[in-house]
Amino acid sequence: MHFYVLTLFPDMILHALEESIIGRAKQKGLLTVEAVNIRDYTHDRHQKTDDYPYGGGAGMVMQAQPIYDAYRSIVQRIGSRPRTVYLTPQGSVFSQSDAKELAQEAHLILLCGHYEGVDERVLEEIVTDYISIGDYVLTGGELPAMVLVDAISRMVPGVLTNADSGESESLEGSLLEYPQYTRPYEWNGKKAPDVLLSGDHAKIESWRREQSIRRTKRNRPDLLKKADLTIKEKAVYGVHDGMKGAETGASPEAENKN
Ligand code: ADE
Repeated sequence: MHFYVLTLFPDMILHALEESIIGRAKQKGLLTVEAVNIRDYTHDRHQKTDDYPYGGGAGMVMQAQPIYDAYRSIVQRIGSRPRTVYLTPQGSVFSQSDAKELAQEAHLILLCGHYEGVDERVLEEIVTDYISIGDYVLTGGELPAMVLVDAISRMVPGVLTNADSGESESLEGSLLEYPQYTRPYEWNGKKAPDVLLSGDHAKIESWRREQSIRRTKRNRPDLLKKADLTIKEKAVYGVHDGMKGAETGASPEAENKN
């Protein structure tokens, strides 16, 4: 998969994605991440990329032309118009299912805004998806773009090895991941759960499933509504169809006891 990040700060992008799983996938040739410097596409002598907003107001607005030309340089090179994401707090909130869906694309352009925004006309021309990474405002789209590159990349076949365990993880089936333990058996006076050392795989699976459901109910009751639970599980854990939030009557403490 090929990512193209349109940005005024290309160094921010390149340095962050050299490590660990993403760095290894790039070396294996499964991914490329190209930071395209919008400033390289200015026509004016001072390489200006922004101007005052029409109608007045605080801040500066990124101009359409350099962004459009940077975009067109990619389109011309690859011979198609790939999906183009504008990172903005006004977009829809990014989720694991978006990551999976976007991982199907061969090419993806990510546009990072700055200042007070981007001239609307170029957004209308090139953007296919408006995505936010959460309900808070950052100073620019670079960190959100890196969040997307990371989350999408690990859904690209071959990027995660077995050792990186991508199969049963947080948010699979809208459940949070169960707790994990490793050696030593006893640490700081606390033992690892004996069931995990029992060698009984069916028991281990069912313990983990139970932990996932309890944890989701406690920490993210909003997710539990979407989770794939059996009728029996719904009865046991007090999950009702149409349940909103945590109105289950159980306090977190009560949940932890079982
Ligand atoms: N740019 C600034 N804040 C953002 C956010 N929360 N998500 C995506 N892009 C942004």
